[in-house]
This record gives sequence, structure tokens and C-alpha cells, in this order.
Amino acid sequence: MDVKMGHTLLSLLGFFCNAVLTIEPNWTAFFSGESVTFKCDITGGKDSSWYYSILQDGGAFLPYHKHEKYKLHSLTPGYSGAYQCFFHQKNSTKESNKIYLTVSERPQPVLTVSPSWPSPGASVTLNCRVDHPSAGWSFYWYKAVPQKSDYSYSFELLPGSEKGTEEDLFIIDGQTHTAGYLCRAARGDPVFYSWHSKPKFVWSGDINSAASLTVSPDSVQHFTKTPVSLSCEGNSTEWRVRMFSKPDYLYHCSILGTMIGSTCTITSYRFSGVFWCESETGQFSNAVNITMECEF
Ligand SMILES: *[C@@H]1O[C@H](CO)[C@@H](O)[C@H](O)[C@H]1NC(C)=O
Ligand SMILES: *[C@@H]1O[C@H](CO)[C@@H](O)[C@H](O)[C@H]1NC(C)=O
Ligand SMILES: *[C@@H]1O[C@H](CO)[C@@H](O)[C@H](O)[C@H]1NC(C)=O
Ligand SMILES: *[C@@H]1O[C@H](CO)[C@@H](O)[C@H](O)[C@H]1NC(C)=O
Repeated sequence: MDVKMGHTLLSLLGFFCNAVLTIEPNWTAFFSGESVTFKCDITGGKDSSWYYSILQDGGAFLPYHKHEKYKLHSLTPGYSGAYQCFFHQKNSTKESNKIYLTVSERPQPVLTVSPSWPSPGASVTLNCRVDHPSAGWSFYWYKAVPQKSDYSYSFELLPGSEKGTEEDLFIIDGQTHTAGYLCRAARGDPVFYSWHSKPKFVWSGDINSAASLTVSPDSVQHFTKTPVSLSCEGNSTEWRVRMFSKPDYLYHCSILGTMIGSTCTITSYRFSGVFWCESETGQFSNAVNITMECEF
């Protein structure tokens, strides 16, 4: 009796059966290079004649598919759209729910560091923000190491971030010198990485044993008729002078003046910013605020 009723119920369910489209991973915002797996199934039973088709924005996308899953590797923004499947068997066709996917360009996270001028030994909080935050990110944290060949940085994973962190925050305890940091986000399997963020810096006014910056004339306000020279000293043979200016610009000496040996002489422009020295061996000097004014 029970079996019979169960059977009747199943037939009824079969009569009202629906096609169901699902995706794996279950996200709606994807990025160029990620992959997605579509699965079209039917509630209730299916016979051997089944197959399905998938439409993108109402147009043919996958006309005939007889495997449970369909994996799309390496998405591009052109794959953004509404997806729907049609499940066919014998003489019936069922229409599924719609899934809306967006595929954006690979994101570049934005790192913020706080505070920018920690007192010696204080903690610094790094925050890595991804533009289209959606599920599944983990975060990797790096120290910026000046590159010899150009004015870029290479990245050295910070201890404690080898496996990525779930939180988009990372705390550095006992910050003592000027330093640069970067982050990037990752998710999925195979793992998909965002671009690296731009480097952000924390500055220290304290001269440390490895490197120091001295400014001459010794003043934080300068007038453009007097050249300002910035000298790097310390445990490296090759230095470069960097300047950060608001809101988010990073300069090097040869844009502002000339670098001879380890001295940068600034002759032009009206500018204000934070200056420091750095070397490809990873040393950073103390940092100095300088404001230049036009002379009246
Ligand atoms: C997919 O995600 C949506 C919204 O986050 C949720 O409602 C749904 O149950 C999820 N489906 C699966 C199969 O995990
Ligand atoms: C479906 O096909 C069967 C034979 O395979 C036929 O008997 C039935 O009438 C068809 N139903 C419809 C709605 O076309
Ligand atoms: C540079 O200026 C900031 C505020 O603009 C200040 O907090 C910081 O202490 C200054 N650093 C030095 C070394 O004077
Ligand atoms: C210079 O740096 C190297 C490597 O960073 C270190 O081994 C050496 O002790 C340093 N020397 C001085 C005088 O700080």
C-alpha cells in the first residue's frame, strides 16, 4: 500500500517536474580567467533519451549536451549574460530557471595601511579591498622589495600569510622602519589570483642603522630657487630616492631632479610629499615630509 502510494506520488512529481540550472562555484560575479561549471538537471526521473541545451541571452550557447556537467574554462567578459537550460527527453522539453553571470576583468585590489606614520614599535593594520567583492576570496600579504631594473617592486610573502588569510585585514606588530606592503586576493580551484595591489608605505621618521636620509638645507619648507639635496647613506651601495604625494602618486628622483651617486638634487616644481631612500637589498631609510613653495 505504502509502496503504491509512493509510486503515485512520484509519478505526480514527475508530471510537474522542472529543469534546474545550477553553477559551480555558486557565484554570480566572475573574473576573466576563472572557470565555471554548468549543470542542468531535472527534478523527478529521466529516461535515456535526455539531453539538454543551454542558451545565453536567448541565443544558442550549447545546443546539445549529454554529460551531467559542462565546464567553461577561462571566462572572458563576453560570457556575461543570462543563462537558461532546456532539458529534453522523449517529447517533452522543460525550461529551467535563469542564472545571471557577470564576468569582469581581473581585479586589482586596493591596499590601505593605517596608521601611515606609526610610532616606533606600534601595530600597523593592512586592509585589502577587492572591487567586486563576492564569495570565496582569501588574501595574501607581501613586503615590497625594490627592484634594481626599474622603479617597481618585487614581493616577498609576509610570515603568517603563506596559506592566505580569510580576513581582508592583516596586522603587523612592532613596525619600526619605513616599509612598503602589497596584497592580492585569490579564490577557486584551480586558484585564480587578482593582480597585486599597488604598494603602500608606512613611514618612520627615525634614522635606523641600515639607512638614513638627510636633507639639505635642513628644513621642511623649501623655496624653488634653492635646490634641495637629499642624500642617502647606509648599508648599500646603490640607493634611489622615492617620493609619495597625495592622493596616490609615487615618484622617483629622476622625475623631480637628478640623482648622482646617492644624492638626489631637486631643482624644479612645486610639490609636497614624503621622501625616503630605498635600496634593492630591501633597506628603507627614515622618511621626511617636504613642502616646496614657489618664491614670490
Ligand atoms: C547559491 O547561492 C544562492 C545565493 O547565495 C543560494 O540562495 C542558493 O541556495 C545557492 N545554491 C546552492 C546550490 O548552493
Ligand atoms: C509523447 O510520445 C508518446 C509516444 O512516444 C505519445 O504516445 C504521446 O502522445 C506523446 N505526447 C505528446 C504530448 O506529444
Ligand atoms: C609628516 O607629516 C605627517 C602628517 O602629515 C605627520 O603625521 C608625520 O609625523 C610627519 N613626519 C615627520 C617625520 O615629520
Ligand atoms: C649590511 O647588510 C647585510 C645584509 O643585509 C648585513 O649582513 C650586514 O651585517 C650589514 N652591515 C651593517 C654594518 O649594518
